[in-house]
Amino acid sequence: MSDFVTIVEVGPRDGLQNEPRPLATADKVALIRRLAASGLKVIEAGALVSPRAVPQMADTEAVLQALELDGAQRYPVLVPNEKGLQRALAAGVRDIAVFAAASDSFSQKNIGCDVAASLRRYRPVVEQARAAGCRVRGYVSCVMGCPYEGVVPLARVAEVSLALAEMGCGEISLGDTIGRGNPRLTRELIRTVAAELPLSRLAVHFHDTWGMALANVCQALELGIRTVDSAVAGLGGCPYAPGASGNVATEDVLVLCQGLGLSTGVDLQAVAEAGWWVSEQLGRAPASRASQALLARQHAGA
Ligand code: HMG
Ligand code: MG
Repeated sequence: MSDFVTIVEVGPRDGLQNEPRPLATADKVALIRRLAASGLKVIEAGALVSPRAVPQMADTEAVLQALELDGAQRYPVLVPNEKGLQRALAAGVRDIAVFAAASDSFSQKNIGCDVAASLRRYRPVVEQARAAGCRVRGYVSCVMGCPYEGVVPLARVAEVSLALAEMGCGEISLGDTIGRGNPRLTRELIRTVAAELPLSRLAVHFHDTWGMALANVCQALELGIRTVDSAVAGLGGCPYAPGASGNVATEDVLVLCQGLGLSTGVDLQAVAEAGWWVSEQLGRAPASRASQALLARQHAGA
């Protein structure tokens, strides 16, 4: 099993989509550049969704225009439908993500249709994206619980994951949208989905609402998952998942990987500095223990 972990940095998208105070376009670009300079190779740069649904992402094209889309980094964007794909292709995007759910109620609130309808909607989007040479990731939200329906059967998660994989999504990200997971459920989730799809095609995406995100990442890594979504400074939340808090912090995942002897190619100090910078712009403290420990050490002059 490889000892390399790919970190998918979702802060500039999942992190900023829920911020009451939107970050200026130039600051988003500055954040993404800092993250790229830290060694992160996959950075979600925005979402080509309805600007009415998520106004914080309305400037995604302007952000993309400032990035080098054919360089060493990949900058995926969320695409909810064919209109989003047309915008992505016009912007020169090479990586998209479609986002389904394991719960009909969440799907309805998030993208205006149930899960079955969303899969029908995504099929031509994925086909066209792949024909245009894009990589496609598929998200499954609410894999460990739904804010509206409560318990979500793991068999349903596996079914939606398989449907996305079969329509052409190369990677499936399993999203604990409301942060209700724990290591035991993480183990059951991964075993259930891995019965249908190879571990190498799975990513995990944990929110830290109940403080379990890092423990869940640890469990997933021990089971052989090698792609982890995280957000600098623990930014994040979903506008359609009331109460959901930030993603697991990239800084904390880096420290965990170091401790487990896994490499990431990412410089912790550089990510932490990007996190301090963006937290200052947003007027808050970074939601990362590793970041706080680094700051304390710096202040102590150690
Ligand atoms: P709708 O209102 O049903 O769409 O929204 P519609 O097709 O009826 O169109 C309504 C209007 O929106 C029209 O404009 C369209 O042109 C426009 P009008 O004619 O009224 O002026 N429109 C668009 N504009 C720009 N770009 C587009 C687009 N599509 C339609 N792509 C829709 C349906 C899916 C578009 C909407 O509900 C939407 O954009 N939802 C996105 C919600 C979202 O971004 N949620 C957060 C991301 S998911 C998440 O965070 C979870 C994740 O992190 C994993 C995890 O944690 O679990 C990924
Ligand atoms: Mg999320």
